[in-house]
Formats: sequence, structure tokens, C-alpha cells
Amino acid sequence: MVHVLDVEFARSQFPALKSGFVFADNAGGSQVTQSSIDLIVDYLSNTNVQLGADYSVSVASTQRVYSAAEEARKLFGAADKNEIVFGPSSTANVENLARGLEAGIKEGDEFIITGEHEANCGPWKKLAARRGAIIKYWHSTPTSPNNPYSLSLKVEDLLPLVSAKTRIVAFTATSNLLGSVVPVQAITKAVRAVAAAKGAPKVEVSVDCVAYAPHRRMDVQAWDIDFCVFSFYKVYAPHISALYVRAAAFDASVSSLAHHFLPADRAYKLQPGGPGYETLYATTSVVPYLLSLTPANDLAASFDAIAAHETKLVSALLGYLTAPEQVARGLRVVGVEEPSTDRVPTVSFVVVGDRPMRSKDVVKVFDQRGGIGIRYGHFYAYTLTGTLPPPVDKEEGPVRVSLVHYNTLEEVEKIIGVFKEIFA
Ligand SMILES: Cc1ncc(COP(=O)(O)O)c(C=O)c1O
Repeated sequence: MVHVLDVEFARSQFPALKSGFVFADNAGGSQVTQSSIDLIVDYLSNTNVQLGADYSVSVASTQRVYSAAEEARKLFGAADKNEIVFGPSSTANVENLARGLEAGIKEGDEFIITGEHEANCGPWKKLAARRGAIIKYWHSTPTSPNNPYSLSLKVEDLLPLVSAKTRIVAFTATSNLLGSVVPVQAITKAVRAVAAAKGAPKVEVSVDCVAYAPHRRMDVQAWDIDFCVFSFYKVYAPHISALYVRAAAFDASVSSLAHHFLPADRAYKLQPGGPGYETLYATTSVVPYLLSLTPANDLAASFDAIAAHETKLVSALLGYLTAPEQVARGLRVVGVEEPSTDRVPTVSFVVVGDRPMRSKDVVKVFDQRGGIGIRYGHFYAYTLTGTLPPPVDKEEGPVRVSLVHYNTLEEVEKIIGVFKEIFA
């Protein structure tokens, strides 16, 4: 049974939403719950000392910081909180991961990457350059013959890239531009089967969940992946990133960056049953917020309710953008055009044809009117925006409207109302 999301309740948890401003740039960063704000203020007011010492305030501080490891464990669906590493951003975390893997990379090893957010490309490209490894791109291809921009990642484009030399496969679970949900479990299974058949001795799979985690439930164990990353500032909290490193990979693949790689208990030698351990993982904000969204008190149920509500939002938006009048006007969705639960409400488009319109000029109308935040750009997906067929100005990129579960159908109607004036 899928619960109906109580959107008013969800909205009431976010102080920023009380202003009535329409936040439609959530793929850039979501709003923050009051409980998260309260925890930060309380932490900085009462327990802001260096972690890991034995004096009481440091013990409390360490406990509070690492309560987030348990929170991230639950969000990832990981087996153990010691598989969680924090970093300032996902960009930094993937770079750290690539550095940590460096000693085990040989000349000629192959990395298959998606050309999306540079956070999940740059570190692998730089690692390849340092070690003489080879980069192969798994590119998105069109899903509709009528729209060359209707791009999505397809497993059939990936599997021919797998060889006996494949060492790393790094892809996004959802692109921050295209919005479709990639079937991580099926893809990983297929990659591992082909790699095994071709005799690849060691393949590790890394998944960028930054644009996925606000919308759908991660499940690193069922997905059978080695590394996964997301950023809390897209998931209703401030900017800090969590990296999942499968326990086996901690031992076999990832060496220490400098003095440690910071899984919780290993870094601070916290022992189950030791001082403070019972209260260690008590202070969290994102998981309790997500659990509060349905009476089931269960993350899967919350994400199902989120998916159902988001599908209504994306249906309304795509319904407008792909209607015959808009197609005739030159609007082309960048990404899959059909709404479904496999499509998060991150919707990008360009205006081409006889009366093309610059993305910048579309967004300018919104900014001049005020009250709604959307944006245009490459969104750091340099390879993707730089290879759009037919090309669009790389800097300007598409217009992007990105919604989450706290957005409403009324807000979507407001956005469409402005589009109607622009494209009249
Ligand atoms: C898909 C994707 N990956 C990675 C990142 C980078 O995350 P961070 O800003 O935490 O480095 C982003 C940020 O927008 C993103 O959307």
C-alpha cells in the first residue's frame, strides 16, 4: 500500500517554505528542516570542540557527530555504520576515494564513467591520468525518435564497454539534468556478469546518488555496489557529504588518505558497550523527518509516498512541455519525456527551431517577476551538456526546473503560467 503524502505536513517542517517563495531549484540544493537547524545551533552552542578526546564535552561532541554515521547508514541501506565516511562535499569525497584507490590502479586498467556531473568524472579522469588507466564513456542516448535530446542511460550501451581490463564502473543513479532513475541493481548485476565472463579480475562499482537520494531510497546492499555518495544538502539538511565504502573494499582497496579515512568507530575507537555508545546514535534529523512522512514509520514507505507525489508533479510539468503546441514552438525536453515513478521531477529543456530562445532569457523572465527560483546552465555536467545532439551553448545549457516532494501542484501551475506567457 502506498501512503498519500501529507504535503502540508511536510511543508510545515521547513521554515523557508513559509515565505511562499516557489523553490524549484532543488537539484541545486533543498531547503532544510527546522529540526536540522535546531540541531546545528545546539551543536555549535554546546558541543563545538575537537572530537575524540576523553573530556565530557568532547565525548558528547563525538557522539553527536557520529550519530550522523548511523543516519547515513540507514539512508544508504548499508550494513554497518563503519562503512560511512564524511566529507565536505560529494566532489571532495569522490576525489578522496579516487586518491584512496590509487595504489591499486595499474596502467591499462579501464574506468567506465558517465559524462554527467563532474564530481563523478573529474576524480576518475585525474586518477586515470596519474596511473595510465583508460577512460571509457557510457553516454546517454535518445529514447524518442522525435526528440534527439530525450536522453537516458541504457544498459545496452554500457555492456559492450566492459572488458577483461575493466576496473571501475562509476555512474549516476539519477542525472542532475535528465532526471531518470537508473536501475542500479540490474545494471550492476549485468556488468558483473559480463566482467566475469570476460575474465576481469576485479571490478568495483561506484554510484553517484547526489541527485537520486532526495527522491528515492538507496539500497547499497541489494544493489551490490562498492562505493556510493550523496550530499545531505540535497536531502533536507546542510552541506556535508556521506560516502559509502563497502567493508570489504576498506580492507582490500582503499588506503588511508593521510592519517585515516574516517569510518566512525575506526577513527575514534568507539567500542560497542563502551562509554557513551548507547546514546551515540541518538541525535539525527533527516531520517526522523523522512519517517514522519507516513504512519508506517518506514523509509521504504516514505520514499514510495514521495515517488507517488513527485510523479504527479512531473506529469503536470512534462504534460505541458511535451504538448503539441509547445513541441511546435520548439520546446524539447532534455531527458525522458514520459512521466513515471522512474522519472524524478528534475526537468530540463531547450527551445530550438524557427524561434529559438536562449535558456538565459527564459530564466530571466522568472527572475524579473520574482517569487519562483529556477535556473539554466551546464549544472557541472560538462560532458553531457557539451555533447548534446544538436549542440546547445555549453555555458548556457538547458533551463532546469527541479522539484521535490514538498512542492505542490499549485506551484507547478504557477511555473507553467509563466511559461505560457513566455512561449505565447
Ligand atoms: C549528480 C551530482 N553529483 C555530484 C554532485 C556534487 O555534489 P557536491 O556539491 O556535494 O560536491 C552534484 C551536485 O549538484 C550532483 O547533482
